[in-house]
Amino acid sequence: MGKTFKVCTLPGDGIGPEIMAEAKKVLAAIGERFDVAFACEDALIGGSAIDATGGKTALPEETLDAARASDAVLLAAVGGPKWDDTSEGAVRPEQGLLGIRKELGLFCNLRPVRIFSSLAGASPLRPDLLEGVDLLIVRELTGGMYFGEHARTDDGARDTCVYSASEIERVVRRAFDAARGRRGHVTSVDKANVLETSRLWREIAAEVAGEYPDVEFDNMYVDNAAMQLVANPAQFDVMVTENTFGDILSDEASMLTGSLGMLASASLGTGTALYEPSHGSAPDIAGRGVANPLAQLLSVELMLRTSFGLVDAADALSGAIERVLDDGWRTADIADDATPADRIVGTSAMGDKVIAAL
Ligand code: IPM
Ligand code: MG
Repeated sequence: MGKTFKVCTLPGDGIGPEIMAEAKKVLAAIGERFDVAFACEDALIGGSAIDATGGKTALPEETLDAARASDAVLLAAVGGPKWDDTSEGAVRPEQGLLGIRKELGLFCNLRPVRIFSSLAGASPLRPDLLEGVDLLIVRELTGGMYFGEHARTDDGARDTCVYSASEIERVVRRAFDAARGRRGHVTSVDKANVLETSRLWREIAAEVAGEYPDVEFDNMYVDNAAMQLVANPAQFDVMVTENTFGDILSDEASMLTGSLGMLASASLGTGTALYEPSHGSAPDIAGRGVANPLAQLLSVELMLRTSFGLVDAADALSGAIERVLDDGWRTADIADDATPADRIVGTSAMGDKVIAAL
């Protein structure tokens, strides 16, 4: 019997439990095929944690302990209208997600944007614009406005954006390392014409770039980058940027693939890593069995590859997903006018198709 990997699974809210069920099914199938085992244990996060703790916290201490004691964390999604309380000091589901990123030191978020050729018709962009698109967004994940002071004043509010030089350096370095294993091109995205944090970002990025003479490097303002992502997305290899810009640009970039339901992510620090789809909990379709599980399964692929070193298993999973799409199977979000009705399947059937293709 091969090795057993301990996975802390965090189904969370909304469609989270439905797509996590598919991830577990697929892990079990991979375990059988590759003679390894995955011991998945659920813990609470987000709205479901708020409910279970009587409104106290979105990130119970036991969840953090379980995460730290595991080989990797696999998260689905958090949030929903039930917990949408905008009053000051309210306990919100997102605090669970931001809290675990911070506590595990997951400063580097990788969001690969990969086009599946059979999905080209599902993207709102013309297929010719998608040719050659294969980019990686490296998003700083534990700094910036997300973690600065948030405050209400008598007649307003403020959110503070703070970055230290070392916070910038470590994530930019990861971007350059990633570029070496890809097409060797880093674009650093900032708003250095306006923001002081961006001017520091630009200085540090140039310093790091000096240590990677083999990697092509350029800077781009974030507004221009947003435009270039739809005008000429194939120009990008690795984009590295701060937390808020990365949040926004990665949702935008996901539509190159046809759906936010296709974008996986890996959040890395120096210890246990976390893998999660880039999309949210989609409360509007929760509980209906129609959510697209593929971003969750692509997150599993990243976990197998990055945390467990199971490259063959990761390749097999990626190949299986590609085959299922090539065979025309679609969840509703990636279907288009040309998709026959009998090829549109639900969450669980999509998981089954991937397992069959494995
Ligand atoms: C993401 C999400 C989160 C973020 C939300 C749910 C707090 O949008 O992972 O991109 O903004 O980081
Ligand atoms: Mg986001």
